[in-house]
Amino acid sequence: MCGIVAIVGTRPVSERLVDALKRLEYRGYDSAGVATIHDGQLDRRRAEGKLFNLETKLAGDPLPGLIGIAHTRWATHGAPTENNAHPHFTDGVAVVHNGIIENFSEIKDTLIADGATFSTQTDTEVVAQLLAKLRRDGLDGREAMQAMLRSVTGAYALAVLFADTPGTILAARSGPPLAVGYGEQEMFLGSDAIALAPFTNEITYLNDGDWAVLTADGVDILDHDGNPVTRPRQVSIAAAYMVDKGNHRHFMEKEIYEQPEVISHALGHYVDFTENRVSAAASAIDFARIPSLAISACGTAYLAGLIGKYWFERYARLPVEIDVASEFRYRDIPLSPDAAALFISQSGETADTLASLRYCKDLGLTIGAVVNASESTIARSSDAVFPILAGPEIGVASTKAFTCQLAVLAALAVGAGRARGTISIEEERVLVRHLAEMPRIMASVLNAIQPKMESLARELAKCQDAIYLGRGTSFPLAMEGALKLKEISYIHAEGYAAGELKHGPIALIDENMPVIVIAPHDRFFEKTISNMQEVAARGGRIIFITDERGAAASKLETMSTIVLPNVDELIAPMIFSLPIQLLAYHTAVFMGTDVDQPRNLAKSVTVE
Ligand code: F6R
Repeated sequence: MCGIVAIVGTRPVSERLVDALKRLEYRGYDSAGVATIHDGQLDRRRAEGKLFNLETKLAGDPLPGLIGIAHTRWATHGAPTENNAHPHFTDGVAVVHNGIIENFSEIKDTLIADGATFSTQTDTEVVAQLLAKLRRDGLDGREAMQAMLRSVTGAYALAVLFADTPGTILAARSGPPLAVGYGEQEMFLGSDAIALAPFTNEITYLNDGDWAVLTADGVDILDHDGNPVTRPRQVSIAAAYMVDKGNHRHFMEKEIYEQPEVISHALGHYVDFTENRVSAAASAIDFARIPSLAISACGTAYLAGLIGKYWFERYARLPVEIDVASEFRYRDIPLSPDAAALFISQSGETADTLASLRYCKDLGLTIGAVVNASESTIARSSDAVFPILAGPEIGVASTKAFTCQLAVLAALAVGAGRARGTISIEEERVLVRHLAEMPRIMASVLNAIQPKMESLARELAKCQDAIYLGRGTSFPLAMEGALKLKEISYIHAEGYAAGELKHGPIALIDENMPVIVIAPHDRFFEKTISNMQEVAARGGRIIFITDERGAAASKLETMSTIVLPNVDELIAPMIFSLPIQLLAYHTAVFMGTDVDQPRNLAKSVTVE
């Protein structure tokens, strides 16, 4: 979603605000803007498109001021034009907003009836207009903020400037995260700790419903009713992470190649490699006692959960209910309060996932979070946190977070199997040894397949559509392959369970249709080969991703066969993720798309 930063202090702010926005650009990147107060007046620069355009504008027309708010946008209401870019100004009020004001049209009608004229199509402008009206009615800044917050509903993180109080930033949070940062004679506000990392590592997260008044000397935090509250001040670890591309062309490429290393970190947390046992970190939920497990997430994280379902059912004989969070939260699923629920999220801020979590919490389930951002709202709202330790993922298309989520879920499922007595100590040892081999195998696979994936991508880049097929855990992986391809190359792609092909999708097969078949030589292999035969019989162009045993067993002619090493079924999804990630990545590079920031997408989706 959108990103917010603000600074109040004793030094010029606009350049530093834009630098901080760069660290938030992953959240949204269709327009950006910055506002300051100088000479008693509000002033702003805004630009459509990437931050670079705003920087160019500021270079030609600098913006002085010791206080400022800034924003990078992912459009919800109104096209991504300069006019709709934040900050929004009305009558001495400036506002930046992340989220959606759900009752904006009602408020807008009332304000229009009262004589207001609106100049943008955004929901945010109602906040600026409402605050301006409340000030005209005689309320001071704090009173106006409190009254405005009582009127608006929806999800928001807000930062507000009033021209007549040039030393104060007002902020509010209901839903999307907002962190206050502490400096020397300076205070900061940001959508996340990464944005604030160059300024400070001392931060306080506002709770839902909190609002805050920041001056250069400090912050007052108030609850929804305006009562002063104290929230913990913590040292953020965000500054420890380097956010640069290294020698890679794109963050996505860097993140693909980081996988062996980050997976070994992640595994190190959940597995004791000297004993070859799953460690205590994996038992923060008492898997032995729960009757069932619910899993919910969105997008790629959901697909990781779907693979996790196969593992929990197979190794721990634990029934798993899973759905995408936007459906899960509204389905009225009969869930037992004795059960546990796992929410998987890279950002830890995804609105639908958080809403599903709260739904399960209200029902009394034990809540576990499989998250990358361990300071996130989802992590902080959970009983047990399972960090995936992937480090910051900047490319919008998830790669290393996906495989780290899988690694953690695999360890949890094996641990759950042990706890429930469905696998023996010896079986646990064997499975853990397979997990331990994974980083080394991943590194050698990445090295070996890269040229082939690049030349295949050259062919795929000429296609309009693609189909991915798989069975067992390769079915969610087929969906993940299709998702990855479509989101960064804009080629239409679908992933199907291989057995479903003949129930409809086979109608799409002709000599122009590439069909990517993911088939390790597992217990489903023969069946998948039969489905591949059906494709071959209709002239489809098969890209066959298999292992050495699979390549030896199949006699079918393919457009290309990618041969991976033979690995155990448990770790196959992580290893087979690599060719599908590289295929999508190189195809997008050939297509010339914006790989790290594909159109219409945002890294952190904090609206429904
Ligand atoms: C796709 C992708 C998205 C996210 C989804 C959930 O490559 O990254 O589908 O997986 O938006 O985001 P998180 O994991 O932050 O909850």
